[in-house]
Amino acid sequence: MRGPSTIVVLPARNISGSLRLPGDKSISHRYAMLAAIAEGTTRLENFSTGADCASTLCCLKTLGVQWERKEQEVIIHGRGPTLQPPTAPLDCGNSGSTMRMLSGILAGQEFSSELIGDESLSRRPMARVITPLEAMGARITSADGGRPPLRVSGGNLRAIDYQMPVASAQVKTALLFAGLYAHGETRVTEPVRTRDHGELALRAFGATVNQSGNQARIVGGQKLHAIEAQVPGDLSSAAFFLCAAALFPGAQLVIERLLMNPTRARLLDILVSMGVGISITQLEEQHGEVVGTVQAEGRTLKGATIQGADSAALIDEIPVLAAIAPYTSSGMEIRDARELRVKESDRIAAVAANLRAMGAQVEERDDGLKIPGGQALHGAEVDSQGDHRIAMAFAVAALRAKGETAIRNANAAVISFPGFFDVLESVVQR
Ligand code: S3P
Repeated sequence: MRGPSTIVVLPARNISGSLRLPGDKSISHRYAMLAAIAEGTTRLENFSTGADCASTLCCLKTLGVQWERKEQEVIIHGRGPTLQPPTAPLDCGNSGSTMRMLSGILAGQEFSSELIGDESLSRRPMARVITPLEAMGARITSADGGRPPLRVSGGNLRAIDYQMPVASAQVKTALLFAGLYAHGETRVTEPVRTRDHGELALRAFGATVNQSGNQARIVGGQKLHAIEAQVPGDLSSAAFFLCAAALFPGAQLVIERLLMNPTRARLLDILVSMGVGISITQLEEQHGEVVGTVQAEGRTLKGATIQGADSAALIDEIPVLAAIAPYTSSGMEIRDARELRVKESDRIAAVAANLRAMGAQVEERDDGLKIPGGQALHGAEVDSQGDHRIAMAFAVAALRAKGETAIRNANAAVISFPGFFDVLESVVQR
């Protein structure tokens, strides 16, 4: 059924244009949380416009943190390490990042707080953060099977040396944030190296974080100071436009001031291996984060295999890569990506269902997908399943389909990118 939030996307002839994107979601969450527990006033330009980062700001307000927002500028008045006991539950909305990373800070507070979320977030696994935070001394209760809501009673933490069973930057960051409040040195070792925005943000706010191999270490009791920063453009949002350009030989797309952090930029290597022309200029570093201008040129599109550490590095970009896979010459195989099943939706199932609705052949596996190349898709009714990345991925797939594609529940895109469909239209040629 088409509802008010159905958006129709028509096929395109080409992609061309130049964009600047709203600030990276992962960095915006971390800067906001650290600004809250720093001394002094932090000014953040180009803060993420997504609903997820607004959830983080709302939770911080409930914890007594004053902030003001003027469009994409957010000014946060730090309280220092001690937050105010909340008088209402902390509503994390759809945001797993808010719930998991904020739990780390709440574990260090001498009060109890309740973290709640929407229907999708209430299904997501939280044991991965509960287990290590309890080992540090926090007391956390949850619904059955370690699901939200969480009640966190914190204070008096001790450092741990923790081997993470699942690769998750959210969990790593939560433990490093908790480590600020712990006695001793907290050590977190990941099975594969994930995005390091937590480590870089902690350093930007003045903390010492040591890192070797897959291990990050932080000594408790360090004070944070406020910063002024411009958040780099969101690379995971850029993925939709870069993949759209990849679909059209001769497409030319420029994205300025884009996040280029090497732990996030694997997408660019994959696109190059698929035959997309990528050049990067104007590289600079801000608070440890690399920023640059990316120019993409569409050429004949080859397939790819994504597996092992790449699957963790590309976890947010796999839906859109899979959505363009049928249009590649040799198809795409995605393995070791079971985590996709516990995101905002079961992204493996959602991609497979929507590609099939558009007429594609797809093999769905427990930990990924196999999608043959050289397929012609037709427009169809697809569903975002309430998941922002699925809504945007299928807007891209629709650009090369025959006929119109109706995306149900397309307003899910507001979670990371309000205005996405208008920005996409601005670079589409018909
Ligand atoms: C994020 C880490 C990833 C990613 C999410 C943002 C982060 O989640 O999917 O969109 O900012 O640390 P996991 O930590 O669950 O892999």
